[in-house]
Amino acid sequence: MTKLRVGLLFGGCSGEHEVSINSARAIAKAFQAEQNANKYEILPFYVQKDGRWLAGNLSQQVLESGQPLQLLSTPTPEHPDHQENSQLSTTNTPNLSRWQSPSQVAEVDVWFPIIHGPNGEDGTVQGLLTLMQVPFVGSGVLGSAMGMDKIAMKMAFAQAGLPQVKYMAVNRSQIWSNPCVFPKLCTQIEENLGYPCFVKPANLGSSVGITKVRSRRELEIALDNAASYDRRIIVEAAVVARELECAVLGNDQPQASVVGEITYNSDFYDYETKYTQGKANLVIPAAVPETVSRKIQEMALQAFAAIDAAGLARVDFFYVEATGEVLVNEINTLPGFTATSMYPLLWASSGVSFPELVDRLVQLALERKSASQFPQRQSK
Ligand SMILES: Nc1ncnc2c1ncn2[C@@H]1O[C@H](COP(=O)(O)OP(=O)(O)O)[C@@H](O)[C@H]1O
Ligand SMILES: [Mg+2]
Repeated sequence: MTKLRVGLLFGGCSGEHEVSINSARAIAKAFQAEQNANKYEILPFYVQKDGRWLAGNLSQQVLESGQPLQLLSTPTPEHPDHQENSQLSTTNTPNLSRWQSPSQVAEVDVWFPIIHGPNGEDGTVQGLLTLMQVPFVGSGVLGSAMGMDKIAMKMAFAQAGLPQVKYMAVNRSQIWSNPCVFPKLCTQIEENLGYPCFVKPANLGSSVGITKVRSRRELEIALDNAASYDRRIIVEAAVVARELECAVLGNDQPQASVVGEITYNSDFYDYETKYTQGKANLVIPAAVPETVSRKIQEMALQAFAAIDAAGLARVDFFYVEATGEVLVNEINTLPGFTATSMYPLLWASSGVSFPELVDRLVQLALERKSASQFPQRQSK
């Protein structure tokens, strides 16, 4: 039987580069499991932090070691990468606007992009893969872009009638404006949302650039800080709530997993809490009333549809225990996929093992690609 060649695309330019390597390692291992080994062959493609794609042995090396490569700039004749990627530009100034792909790209039957955050989860890679006309795992351009931008996402959720925290969308130009506009903006935020509130860049992840603020002074600093990361900023009223998450799998008839909870001791689920071993715990299934978990599963599917997601997504919620309210926080279209990540663990607890999960995702990618083919119009 000829094996399907899966292009595993990982690494990337975002702050989640290392997480992506770990996700890719876990996924590659799952493709080597007994039931998948006869069906699939993995072709690793490692995207360096500067955006350059590597294939072959160097990518395999990153996958095996779990360690990012030191930045390889322009390939030189003596560099092994030069032979592997003979099509890459050899000019002295690597210009990524003249992006070129390793020749192995042509061998891929289906792509499995697992690059988290900007330039991976936001529709950019998905646009490239769409242009290549090869099926790929996960959401398309629209779903990915909507899922990445917290303002666009919240607008879609509001349109779908999903409850969420009160928020305001802000532009960098309002923050870095003349001294008359900025104080008015801060006053508006105070009047509409009050303290504490959360200031976030709209297009990042891993809590990078997010601040919880309790005063005017903190608000001013947080807005300035968020504006240094993104042109689009969102400010949200803070809620006191438990954080629950639900995994979604499927295309047009997606399914929701059991619900899990993230628990931690810090002020909020910030970068350090997320990535320091032992600072956060995953509780699966979450100890919440059945009515709450059912509501969350239903809302997760609505959120998935609201942004036109496909394949997979993890939807995160705030459960305000005091009032029983459930609010949708965000959707992640390429959630963490390591051996200890919430997404695969939620599915494992719902009866879908890690190897089964990657198999299903590839099949969903193939199904979606054939469904996206437009019926040929009859020419007159
Ligand atoms: N409105 C809010 N109320 C209470 N906590 C919040 C709010 N917004 C964010 N947080 C806290 O900050 C964390 C990160 O925010 P989130 O919007 O999920 O960003 P990211 O995409 O970086 O994960 C959340 O998991 C939660 O702990
Ligand atoms: Mg989050």
